[in-house]
Amino acid sequence: MSEHVAVTDGADGVRLITLNRPEKKNALTGDMYDALRAALVSADGSEAVGAVVFAGLPGIFCAGNDIADFVSRAQMPFTEAPSLRFVRQLARTQTPMVAAVDGIAVGIGTTLTLHCDLVYASPAARFRMPFVELGLVPEAASSYLLPRRVGRLKATELLLLSEPFGADEAEALGLVNGVMPSGMLLEHACAQAARLAALPRGARAASRKLIRGDQALVEAALDAEAEAFERQLRTEEAQGAFRAFLARSKPGARA
Ligand code: COA
Repeated sequence: MSEHVAVTDGADGVRLITLNRPEKKNALTGDMYDALRAALVSADGSEAVGAVVFAGLPGIFCAGNDIADFVSRAQMPFTEAPSLRFVRQLARTQTPMVAAVDGIAVGIGTTLTLHCDLVYASPAARFRMPFVELGLVPEAASSYLLPRRVGRLKATELLLLSEPFGADEAEALGLVNGVMPSGMLLEHACAQAARLAALPRGARAASRKLIRGDQALVEAALDAEAEAFERQLRTEEAQGAFRAFLARSKPGARA
């Protein structure tokens, strides 16, 4: 569905979903969100897929939502936005998900990992959630999930002040399971995903549900965030921040 998202299924039950838009640092467009959502929906519906792995390219996991897309979608109903439909699916996906983060992981590049069952990173991983700087609010239920994972004070640093953090800090915060050299990262993530895929399905699904807690609270956070996000998206705060980023991208605009 998108030339920028590659989906390959292995004989070990692992579906590898690779973001592949290097010229824009794997920033996600509507088509890419749709392709990601479709890959998760069909994973849930497939007997052959037992786990998915999200990966990017060397040094580039994902630079977040495509900012030009934010501008073009500002007047459309946000409830139909591919990004929102994707994060709703992400929260609902029954198939275990693993992330292999090498390099930049901005916005959804970070918040996507909060939904994963296992997360691995290379020392080059650089996480950041600059929603508020961009005139927006947190998304993908991060306003609910992150404070519960790292405490409200740390979540405030990461979500309000948009503090970047690296792989070691992410590991110390419990946001990644392990840090390993880039060359080993994908292989390790896929091996762990294969272990998840090989587990007895009923016991795995029931245990996963217990570990992840009340899904209704995640859904409620998604609803509340979507309402605030849509409101903010249309403000001059947000549109001005998008224009500033896009102007900086034009040839000759950089110092
Ligand atoms: N949306 C649209 N385009 C993006 C993008 C995004 N989120 N992130 C990067 N790009 C584009 C840049 O505009 C640039 O395009 P150009 O070559 O046409 O000028 C290209 O990708 C390369 O990015 P560049 O900024 O030169 O790479 P870098 O390595 O110096 O910095 C980032 C990488 C990710 C730190 C930086 O691009 C950035 O801050 N991007 C925005 C991240 C963001 O705010 N995302 C939204 C979160 S909600």
